[in-house]
Amino acid sequence: MKKFYLSTPLYYVNSSPHIGHAYTNIAGDVQARFHRLLGDEVFFLTGTDEHGQKIKRAAEEQNLSPQDFVDKTSDNFKILWQTLNVRTDDFIRTTEPRHKKVVQKVIKDLYEKKDVYESVYEGFYCVPCESFWTETQAADNKCPDCKRDVEFIKEKNYFFKLSKYQDWLISHIEKNKDFIKPTERYNEVLSFLKGNKLNDLCISRPKERLEWGIEFAFDPDYVTYVWFDALLNYISAAGCFSDKAKFERLWPADFHFIGKDILRQHAIYWPIMLKALELPPPKCVFAHGWWLVEKDSGSEKMSKSKGNVVSPLDIVEEFGKDCFRFFLLREVPFGLDGKFSYKAMIQRVNSDLANDLGNLVFRSLNMVEKYFMGRIPEAGKEMPAEYKKVIDELPEKYLKSMKDINFYLSLENIWELVRIANKSVEEKKPWSLAKEKKIKELENFIYFLMESLRIISIYLYPFIPETCQKIYNQLGLDKPLDKADFQKEIEWGSLPSGLATKKGEPLFPRIET
Ligand code: MSP
Repeated sequence: MKKFYLSTPLYYVNSSPHIGHAYTNIAGDVQARFHRLLGDEVFFLTGTDEHGQKIKRAAEEQNLSPQDFVDKTSDNFKILWQTLNVRTDDFIRTTEPRHKKVVQKVIKDLYEKKDVYESVYEGFYCVPCESFWTETQAADNKCPDCKRDVEFIKEKNYFFKLSKYQDWLISHIEKNKDFIKPTERYNEVLSFLKGNKLNDLCISRPKERLEWGIEFAFDPDYVTYVWFDALLNYISAAGCFSDKAKFERLWPADFHFIGKDILRQHAIYWPIMLKALELPPPKCVFAHGWWLVEKDSGSEKMSKSKGNVVSPLDIVEEFGKDCFRFFLLREVPFGLDGKFSYKAMIQRVNSDLANDLGNLVFRSLNMVEKYFMGRIPEAGKEMPAEYKKVIDELPEKYLKSMKDINFYLSLENIWELVRIANKSVEEKKPWSLAKEKKIKELENFIYFLMESLRIISIYLYPFIPETCQKIYNQLGLDKPLDKADFQKEIEWGSLPSGLATKKGEPLFPRIET
């Protein structure tokens, strides 16, 4: 079995989950389900980022201790993943002992190796972002990220030697074209590294200023900077220092799925941290685009600080989980920005799901009932010559686009079959075949439709698992699709004749506006 290790970011628990968070995890779930279908041993990891000033302040606002607060809010994410059918293999919280131990050991080891050292920090600091800025960066005493006031501080801190590994990182990126994806993000990181000298990273915060963090094992006056803490989850959850066999099997990760807002931390800090620990970097950091919200003045990123967040739970309640999953991955190529609106969502659901897929399933099953008393007809298992090209090319195209994390294209590939199947009904006119008693031809044609539905349900399963399982069951097949043997299932002609079908209700009723 091949292993496949994929992670999402750990989400800050000070805000409720929104579409952006749902996006990364749904994409991760699609990729994880796809690899499970291929028979890989999948480790799909998500979790929550629970330390730092922002969390402490949010806890205070609710009159809760930070620990009680994170226990409560972390569950909001767990609930959302269940609601969205996002099936992860582990959920790590940065307040867990298994993670704390790793963070403390890493800092101690790096301190002993002199890659972490003590020095005096002098400069600007943004409290809400917990970021340090130079005078030029913090022009007008404002934080370049959140635009709030920065403070001037001078204090002893611990630093991590990012600068020492800059040349190594440049050469690693140049030698590994797949390390950062998509290409635009690869170029962005490489040109940043070539054009700027990296400063060492301040990885501590004095306890007198911030208590809510992982204490340094050798200096209890300091806690760990949230990013240095959180990034290490990718190895702590994989068993680093605690389960050698598991860690050796899993590491390096195959993919870190992230949003482009946190590329610097994942494509610069993280590989350098691993290098200093003498561990290999992840194989690929894939940074997707943002969901934006339309404004009169143009569009802006959806985020808590802008107060324009759309709740995924509301959308699921209104449209259903599969429509939401489908929309997010079909609407824009993963990697580009997309605009979220109810109008776009309704259009997409009506055209692709209600008109194309839902209609195909409903009318096809209806015909089996009408012409063959609800039994899959006997038929030549050969695929019809006129559709052979599309059907023959589908496996290769689909596998390639899925492995390239090109979900949009995978869905396009599947839709070629959905469209030809729908079109074939208009062209073949099965009702005329029935009238003219061309039974053999009718049997062959209906079998072609049923087999198309089965194949579509397999390919589409990672995207809309619940619906696909339904379609598969409606064909009279009862296996859980997550246990399907993909290579066998995609062979044309393996649907047995004689199975009893179930017509059911339309899968996606049209949404009237
Ligand atoms: N806690 C850090 C990540 C630590 S990872 C070791 C963090 N958390 S976050 O809650 O702010 O979530 C960031 C992630 O949420 C983004 O990288 C992206 O995956 C997702 N998104 C947040 N807003 C988004 C959009 N508007 N659009 C798409 N995804 C975005 O940063």
